[in-house]
Amino acid sequence: MGISFNGRERVFRLDTPGSTYLINIVDEAGFLCHTYYGRRIPDDGMSYLLRINGEQLPFRSSGDQTGFLDELPMEYSWGGQGDFRESCLRLETEEGYRTCCLTYLSHKIYGGKPSLPGLPAAYGGEEDCATLELWCRDSCLGLEVCLLYTVFEKLDVICRSARIENRGEKTLRLTGALSACLDMDNRDFDLITLHGSWAYERMINRRPLSWGRQGAASKRGISSHQEQPFLALAEHDAGQDHGQVYAMHLVYSGNFLAQAEMSQQGLVRAVIGIHPEGFAWKLRPGESFQTPEAVQVYSHTGLDGMTHTLHDFYRNHLIRDPWRNRPRPSLVNNWEATYFDFDTEKLLDIARTAAQSGIEMLVLDDGWFGHRNRDDSSLGDWTVNEEKLPGGLKYLADEVNRLGLKFGLWVEPEMVSPDSALYRAHPDYALQVPGRPPMLSRNQLVLDFSRAEVRDCVYAQLHAVLSSASIAYVKWDMNRALTDVAGLDTDRQGELLHRYVLGLYDLQERLLRDFPDLLLENCASGGGRFDPGMLYYSPQIWTSDNTDAIDRLRIQEGTALLYPLSTMGAHVAACPSHTNGRVTPFATRALVSLPGCFGYELDLTQLKPEELAMIPGQLEDYRKYGPVFHDGDYYRLASCSENGEYDVLMAVSKDRRTAVIDYVHVMSRQRRRDVLLPLRGLAEEVRYRSSETGEVRSGAGWMYGGMLLPKMAGDFLGKLIVLEAV
Ligand code: GLA
Repeated sequence: MGISFNGRERVFRLDTPGSTYLINIVDEAGFLCHTYYGRRIPDDGMSYLLRINGEQLPFRSSGDQTGFLDELPMEYSWGGQGDFRESCLRLETEEGYRTCCLTYLSHKIYGGKPSLPGLPAAYGGEEDCATLELWCRDSCLGLEVCLLYTVFEKLDVICRSARIENRGEKTLRLTGALSACLDMDNRDFDLITLHGSWAYERMINRRPLSWGRQGAASKRGISSHQEQPFLALAEHDAGQDHGQVYAMHLVYSGNFLAQAEMSQQGLVRAVIGIHPEGFAWKLRPGESFQTPEAVQVYSHTGLDGMTHTLHDFYRNHLIRDPWRNRPRPSLVNNWEATYFDFDTEKLLDIARTAAQSGIEMLVLDDGWFGHRNRDDSSLGDWTVNEEKLPGGLKYLADEVNRLGLKFGLWVEPEMVSPDSALYRAHPDYALQVPGRPPMLSRNQLVLDFSRAEVRDCVYAQLHAVLSSASIAYVKWDMNRALTDVAGLDTDRQGELLHRYVLGLYDLQERLLRDFPDLLLENCASGGGRFDPGMLYYSPQIWTSDNTDAIDRLRIQEGTALLYPLSTMGAHVAACPSHTNGRVTPFATRALVSLPGCFGYELDLTQLKPEELAMIPGQLEDYRKYGPVFHDGDYYRLASCSENGEYDVLMAVSKDRRTAVIDYVHVMSRQRRRDVLLPLRGLAEEVRYRSSETGEVRSGAGWMYGGMLLPKMAGDFLGKLIVLEAV
């Protein structure tokens, strides 16, 4: 078991294969302090690291007690008595007092991992992991906090969350309850976060950590296009394959805060959890609040180590059956092919061409319901438009199935159009502040998913639709941020955003329970809710509305820093690109989509014959190498966002017998010398043949000598190079 308690040293040790995490109970008061996190060490007695102003334990419990608290590395920080850094726990008593103080109460260690009620969370059995429940309390308030830590046997991951229980006699108002805190000495850290915007999600942002507070956050009600619920602290000289990296990623899909703070002493406090702004949760005596889970990763092998750990972890402990590690069907989606302008015949034309080419599924996107021919009506009315689709979804799905394709469908269940029967019958179902007209975005309003009757009404419609035809896949979209957030009892407004997210999780869980084989793909105007919370429900997520192959390189690079390639919806789209007008060859568009969940998003019937003729080969590549990209180890060899010329990613199968190198030659430049690229991840002694040149060389040769990038004349070209063990 990776967890133990040393009573003499008063230390908890949490070991993963490559890391050790130590927590000390400190002082007579019993503060829980973070002592050590880093490479695995055998020692328990590391409390000399907990030094205050150069002094070591034991501390004086008189004199400058506030200064003591303000420097102590805390396991779960609280405020009001001297720690002026970010508080994980914030609350107010009935009288409005905001001070608290948490000290050790008890602990429990056991095999396995508990699930978190109503929340997505990683899973693991007794053979995979062990859990520490570390209870602390504020005896003045009668408040108890259970800090949960689950340590995995095979991966350098610790899952963390907190459960806050009111065991007192008075109601408390939680005004902040973060999931995890990591207090450390600064090792010349850089801070890494992902930022972006619509159609330009998850750009990697790395900069030196500086004084004060910095990080990422969302207050949009969704995890957002703009930020990712993630931060990493990487030693300044840590690179792809060397150096220490500490990462935190939140399994949550709503407002969040991921913040690193460098305090006056140069100490670092990293925290992650639900954003406290606007959050207030009424906790009556006997009630408890469970925070979302944070996934904490340590790597001493640079960013690759962090990425591989997260990829393996999400593939094996977050994505669920039946789609866990299962090949994802290729598909054609009609959105960029037709937008709202389609009928059964048009869709069947596309399906016929798809069937001839070997594509496995047709997905019908927006516009099949109500009287929706533009984006200004019918959300909330999930009944098929028989004018466009005579015979309904059943007829269409049957015909598509007859052609040998599966059928998939787009829905946007969280939304309502003011022009809809649902809104006319229940205007109060939309989020709004009484007496104030709510703001439209994409002509739509948000349904109050915190209310069970609203969810039930939508779910009944969804259930009927999905039962009406053979539907193998659902694209669950969500096309606006949350505003005008009001609706519950007046003294519970601060709960609404979190209850909305819980409502969303509840509906997706119901969907999967009632349709267990369904392949769900989440989407939010592209990648506006690409987070580990959604990944628990849908094994793949639409990466971005930006379908231009060249822009996608950077978006997918940022996404793949954290997420397995098997999670990224990636389609060959129309050209010139509907996003930015760029013209790229059909083959290059396929090359960029190939590592993800591969598909097409264009009118197949309009393709040139030579383009159409390429599809079977592209699908054959996906069938053969998709599993290497999806299930293997991913390496970022070169980034066009850094070198301006070429982009190369590589995936190596777990048995190290096959490697695929996805090379996109973005911009041509006259060169005096060929580019030599050291490969990574191969077995040194195994000999591999290159599909490009036929050369056979040892893994060591390919890695330490390197591979010459094929020469190419022209922009936006590329190659898939395969190395097979001989
Ligand atoms: C969002 C999605 C798109 C498409 C449209 C339909 O923008 O990201 O892929 O489904 O909605 O309205």
